[in-house]
Amino acid sequence: MILIDGKKEAASLREELKKEVSELKAKYNKVPGLTVILIGDLTPSQIYVRNKEKSAKEVGLNSEVIKYPDSVEEITILNKIHELNQDDTVSGILVQLPLPKHINKKKVIEAILPQKDVDGFHPVNVGNLSSGYDSSVPCTPLGCYLLIKKIEPNLNGKKAVLVGRSNLNGKPMTQLLLKENCTVTITHSKTKDLKNECVKGDIIVAAVGIPELIKGDWVKKDAIVIDVGINKTEKGIVGDVDFREVSKHAKALTPVPGGVGPMTIACLLKNTVECFKKSI
Ligand code: GUN
Repeated sequence: MILIDGKKEAASLREELKKEVSELKAKYNKVPGLTVILIGDLTPSQIYVRNKEKSAKEVGLNSEVIKYPDSVEEITILNKIHELNQDDTVSGILVQLPLPKHINKKKVIEAILPQKDVDGFHPVNVGNLSSGYDSSVPCTPLGCYLLIKKIEPNLNGKKAVLVGRSNLNGKPMTQLLLKENCTVTITHSKTKDLKNECVKGDIIVAAVGIPELIKGDWVKKDAIVIDVGINKTEKGIVGDVDFREVSKHAKALTPVPGGVGPMTIACLLKNTVECFKKSI
């Protein structure tokens, strides 16, 4: 079985980006800038944002984190986004989710200029992606996609089974795989006989948030299995895939941690560089 090393792939993507950023700097005397807005003090969000900032600096981006308390008013966030939209030194804007309940997520996402939407969450980007046009692509599915392509460059006619239908992963993943001529089945927590769907997959992407849901006998021999899950359990952090069992069946599998996670952050940096290049 191939253990897909997301850490290594992410490091190699960051290395490429670092080189590109230094070439852009030499050519334009400017570097891409990423601004992250972090609201509240949720520990996982703080850890993600710290990692994003560290990685952004490592590849030579201008990186800024703007922090607000949980009690911040929605209008303050919207005004800040409008200000960042106008700021030429800011190539990409990311508002870390989840947001406090009194802040309207849709309004916040729609306030970001689509050209600066490094998350690919703005409806214009979602629409462009689903129509097959150029767009920002959400970082997690983009990371999954790059890992799959590394194992299997030709996805023509492959059967992909997505477990989870979120806007963050399942839906955009569908578009990426359709573009590669996969036959895509989207399943979720309410799908009847999920096992029967999964066993048909040449590729399985699990992003449903149920610890170790995907068992060994749910996976066809030689399938590529991508585990997006990050679930806290008494055993520690586990994915949506039963790693011990599935590693005996699959051709290739991502570990948790060290699989999709590092790729997500590297893809955010990639999206920031892409936004910058389109802006000059
Ligand atoms: N929270 C968890 N994942 C993400 C992500 O990809 N983007 C944003 N903005 N927030 C998140």
